[in-house]
Amino acid sequence: MKNISYNIKPRTEKINLPDKLGFGIYFTDHMFEMDFTPEKGWHNASIHPLNNFCLHPATSFIHYGQSIFEGLKAFKTVDGQIQIFRPDVHIERMNNSARRLCMPEVDNNFVLEAMKELIAIDSDWIPTKRGEALYIRPFMFGKEPVLGVRPSRDYKFIIILSPVGAYYPEGFKPVKILAQDKYVRTIRKGLGDCKTSANYAASLLAAEEAKEMGYTQVLWLDGVEQKYIEEVGTMNIFIHFKDEIATPMLTGSILPGVTRRSVIQILKEWGYNVTERLISMQEVIDAYDSGNLIGIFGTGTAAIISSLELLTYKDKRMVINNGEVGELDLKLFNELTDIHTGEKEDTRNWVFKVEKKEILV
Ligand code: COI
Repeated sequence: MKNISYNIKPRTEKINLPDKLGFGIYFTDHMFEMDFTPEKGWHNASIHPLNNFCLHPATSFIHYGQSIFEGLKAFKTVDGQIQIFRPDVHIERMNNSARRLCMPEVDNNFVLEAMKELIAIDSDWIPTKRGEALYIRPFMFGKEPVLGVRPSRDYKFIIILSPVGAYYPEGFKPVKILAQDKYVRTIRKGLGDCKTSANYAASLLAAEEAKEMGYTQVLWLDGVEQKYIEEVGTMNIFIHFKDEIATPMLTGSILPGVTRRSVIQILKEWGYNVTERLISMQEVIDAYDSGNLIGIFGTGTAAIISSLELLTYKDKRMVINNGEVGELDLKLFNELTDIHTGEKEDTRNWVFKVEKKEILV
């Protein structure tokens, strides 16, 4: 499928966004949408004004969760160019999620082009403050109305855009994280390494309970022994020991984060000893007690780099780096945001430019 049809409504009023954008609250004027049937493959691609759906009550994803998504960001550089951070890797990951959930893959190049078109059309919505971005949410769901438990025949793929600021209510300040063994998010060979709604549904109760106790998010332990640390609600995690920066290895139950992957590469280039391995909760506690723990930070598209100020596990409360943003964490945050804003040259070919265009009417 090569063609996108356009129904573009040019804005008549100025976009008026508040000073603090929060995350995922505001949406741009247009969306991309296409359909899949086994007979036609992907078809009906269009960019049109953002609209609500009308769905049959038996639509399969509502009942059985055949639903996947991605989250990536576009930025306006200091010299006014528009760029997307690593869309190729995100689209590839979406196709990995699709395969695991018996859903049809998308054409990587076509989706990249559709994404660029949509961003170009709604480019006035891209916020320009450091740390802000246009969040891109591609998603796919099974839309066949059927109550039998089997993969849907038909699917919808959509991209919506949302101008966002900091993910956490704390802004970019350090966060408090609760490691708990009351619930598990997933187990190896489950869906943990896919970006599917089910993983987020599984996380909600634990996150709500943690929030009631004053924590920002939960640190998940492995689903079998609940011994090894895995990931935080919406971030991968890095433990900065004195002589090593370690992050949990991708055992199959951890989301292979794009920011995680970028940070590993940057740290290696900077000469750090970075490892991907199993890290037990006890090892973190021992390092803390022996003064061997320099810091802990999370990485994610939404969160960017987020220092931990407190990590609690059972009755052990570990105040990290005196509750302040780690020096290395800040350096990483700046490295990534400098690439986002174009203040630093993209030497790693991570950004994809979007051509600004006149609105098509
Ligand atoms: C991300 O940071 O990759 C996300 O998409 C987070 C989202 C679930 C809010």
